[in-house]
Amino acid sequence: MSASPSAPPETTTALPKKGAELDLYVESLAYGGQGVARHDGFVIFLSKGAVPGSRVKAMITKRRKGFAEARVLSELEASPHADAPRCAHFGVCGGCATQNYLYEQQLQQKQTQVADVFRRIGRLDGLDIRPIIGCGETYNYRNKMEFTFSPHAWLVDPHQKEAAPEQVLGLHVPGRFDKVLDIDECHLQHPLGNRVLALVKQLAARYELEPWDVHTHKGFLRHLVVRVAGAASEPQLMVNLVTSREDVKRLKPLVDELVGQVPEVSSLINNINTRKATVAYGEWEVKLHGSPFITAQLRGLRFDISANSFFQTNTAQAGVLYEQIEKAANLDGSEMLFDLYCGTGTIAIDLARQAREVAGFEMVDSAVDDAARNALANEVFNVRFFHADLGDRYFANHGKRLFKQVDKPDVIVSDPPRAGMHPKLVKEVVDLAAKKIVYVSCNPATQARDVALLVEGGYQVKYLQPVDMFPHTPHIENLCVLDRK
Ligand SMILES: C[S@@+](CC[C@H](N)C(=O)[O-])C[C@H]1O[C@@H](n2cnc3c(N)ncnc32)[C@H](O)[C@@H]1O
Repeated sequence: MSASPSAPPETTTALPKKGAELDLYVESLAYGGQGVARHDGFVIFLSKGAVPGSRVKAMITKRRKGFAEARVLSELEASPHADAPRCAHFGVCGGCATQNYLYEQQLQQKQTQVADVFRRIGRLDGLDIRPIIGCGETYNYRNKMEFTFSPHAWLVDPHQKEAAPEQVLGLHVPGRFDKVLDIDECHLQHPLGNRVLALVKQLAARYELEPWDVHTHKGFLRHLVVRVAGAASEPQLMVNLVTSREDVKRLKPLVDELVGQVPEVSSLINNINTRKATVAYGEWEVKLHGSPFITAQLRGLRFDISANSFFQTNTAQAGVLYEQIEKAANLDGSEMLFDLYCGTGTIAIDLARQAREVAGFEMVDSAVDDAARNALANEVFNVRFFHADLGDRYFANHGKRLFKQVDKPDVIVSDPPRAGMHPKLVKEVVDLAAKKIVYVSCNPATQARDVALLVEGGYQVKYLQPVDMFPHTPHIENLCVLDRK
């Protein structure tokens, strides 16, 4: 979610006009990664990449009620907190916009943003916000990356049109669904992921496997998804090629060479997406090589993950996050626990070791299957998983029957996607009257909105614990622990 501005301070001065060029001091970062500056008392949100502590020349691009947006034209004075970006694509790709800012400072900004978002959106002030827990590794931490094939290269210099490659494999530039920046190396992913990226690009060109065109809806290769799991000394790779149709014969030469050259590829999957929507999962999948899943290790447990199942993207920091969830849940073995939005069952299985019984709820079929298999593989038998769409559709079709299949929970862990929880689910959670709720979120804005409803329903916020899972990006993971009053 991008930043939405705070209420502007009262002033009598006029807001600068569109096109005006200003010399601005960058004070901070808003939630979403935009720089925040002030001019004559007005808040000005700057394009991403502006480093707090620097002075920039910026041009007003939009005027809103009481504030403005501006594009940074040049840096006039460097920040004492600036850092050298590691990536050659920095500034164009948009994937990790704060690489030019010292990591310790990034953490401080995120800490402030959590407080700000809870105050502004949740109307919750004076909360106990524990110091954000940073990452040990700030590069190569992602265990999953999705790249897009395209015939439409994003040209850094539009005058160089002739030199543009005919097909690219990389990342969408911000705000352009149809333009893809060719990526040579992504510093957020595992180094083996970069090897696969380079090789697949080369093999796709050699075997003339044409990229999908989002305008004409023609072409074959759509996405490359690379996932890494296993022990650091023995990494396992899952390569998922998303194509527009099933044609195993055409993929075979690429598959054979890839597996021959990168023996760590223990799973090669083909998802087939025949639809127009540019999503990196298909209506069905075909296994092209090895196992249908890869196995991650986390807190002494093993988790099989198939191509379309969610798994926390920063494995090392997921261990830290789960440690915090365990601490917050503070189980004594007598509790019934709900794990809402349980994915492959990681939290449910982890906490089942300290609870009487656990019920996990998840929408994606393959994730529910993975979760059930993972419980058995870890010899955890006091957990059950339910296939459930916790969105509007469920409540429209099934009413309250879902949660009646099991005992009422003493503790609820909820870890929804970025959109947060459906208001009907929040109401249902209030009615369940668990004594404790641990709300885990990758989007503090929707979390603050939902927490405000839980507070209205009779809960009080005990504390917040931000955990940084995504260095160099504006994303924030945050735990909110609530007790029933
Ligand atoms: C942030 S992930 C959390 C997964 C898990 N707790 C973990 O730590 O790995 C959110 C999960 O919610 C699931 N999900 C998304 N929308 C849903 C819905 N409407 N109903 C149920 N599950 C949903 C996704 O498939 C995903 O597994």
